[in-house]
Amino acid sequence: MKNAAVLISGRGSNLSALMAAQGSAYRIVLVVSNVEGAGGLEIAAAAGIPVKVIPHQGKSRETFDAEVDAVLREAGADIVCLAGFMRILSDGFVRAWEGKLVNIHPSLLPAYKGIRVHERVIEAKEALSGASVHFVVPELDAGPVIAQGSVPVHPSDTPQTLAARVLEIEHSLYPQALQLLATGGVRLEKGLAVFG
Ligand code: GAR
Repeated sequence: MKNAAVLISGRGSNLSALMAAQGSAYRIVLVVSNVEGAGGLEIAAAAGIPVKVIPHQGKSRETFDAEVDAVLREAGADIVCLAGFMRILSDGFVRAWEGKLVNIHPSLLPAYKGIRVHERVIEAKEALSGASVHFVVPELDAGPVIAQGSVPVHPSDTPQTLAARVLEIEHSLYPQALQLLATGGVRLEKGLAVFG
């Protein structure tokens, strides 16, 4: 049984999905948000999961990351999941949690890293989009992929309708990927995701 911590900045629907799938593989021991009032905080607190708000304003990236690192260690986290956490983490933090730090991104990585993903997918008239769970490495959204799911892009899609379709698969993808990581079914080795 692994202890997972989840870092959020917003509504927390992926956090909810991870919470719903807790079981023999992992349990969520802490939720950290850099945004006070983030919706996910209430969801976690209502379920009795400890929450911490660590505002980032007026701090260097290193100071903020050190504060996050301290609460993660105090909580005994083995795995850290970024779930709509909209801050870039320092190289030092990422290296310290290498192989234990994962993120979900709403595109078929390596395509469409960064922000405004759904807008750019629609602008490019892509037929497919999706979501990826990946190990976090210092370069943004560039870590080895653990799991991906795809959805069609319809000609009538707006960024909102596409985001909703992608989000639905995120909610099944992220718990599956976390279960795989927590049970040793995937690991990061020499910069690659190694399965089995
Ligand atoms: C999700 O779509 C997630 O993939 C995305 O933010 C949303 C968070 O929703 N993450 C990123 O764009 C990270 N670059 P949630 O708060 O309801 O889980």
